[in-house]
Amino acid sequence: MKGILYPNSNVIFAAQDQNPADVPQAKEPSTATNPLASSYGKWEAVENSALALTEAANLLTIPGRKCSNGRDVPIKNADWPKLVQGLRDAGMMSFKAAQAKNQDKILEAADAITTACSNCHDKYREKPKLADRCM
Ligand code: HEC
Repeated sequence: MKGILYPNSNVIFAAQDQNPADVPQAKEPSTATNPLASSYGKWEAVENSALALTEAANLLTIPGRKCSNGRDVPIKNADWPKLVQGLRDAGMMSFKAAQAKNQDKILEAADAITTACSNCHDKYREKPKLADRCM
């Protein structure tokens, strides 16, 4: 999960500071590790990362997954689907901003992503004890 959420949100966050259209293509775009400089780079990279975030929301609803402390991912809690929806909405907002190649809208979308991540982390992750996560 974090392997999807972390790198893809960073692509959106990077698009706040530098217009993706201005990111030069890498010397070897097909093996570039920076998505913005890769063969599918610039705004297309932002679109792809936005979609990855949106789709990652679905992974957070699959039954049978465990948190690092062994507890079930709390998909049955009443607020969980709303927190997941927050991520999905922020992902779609980023996708629309990328399609529109609109950096002002990216700023708003990046805010929405940050809020969606922390709304859930405040409740289910930020615990003094690992054992108290995911409940
Ligand atoms: C619906 C809830 C939810 C949403 C939304 C969510 N997370 Fe998380 N995230 C968690 C939980 C719960 C954990 C702790 C998982 C564990 O301990 O196994 C976690 C752990 C992580 C970790 C690993 C760090 C650690 O302390 O273990 C990263 C990185 C992370 N999230 C990034 C993100 C990012 C970036 C976003 C937003 C794009 C996001 N998450 C959105 C619930 C969520």
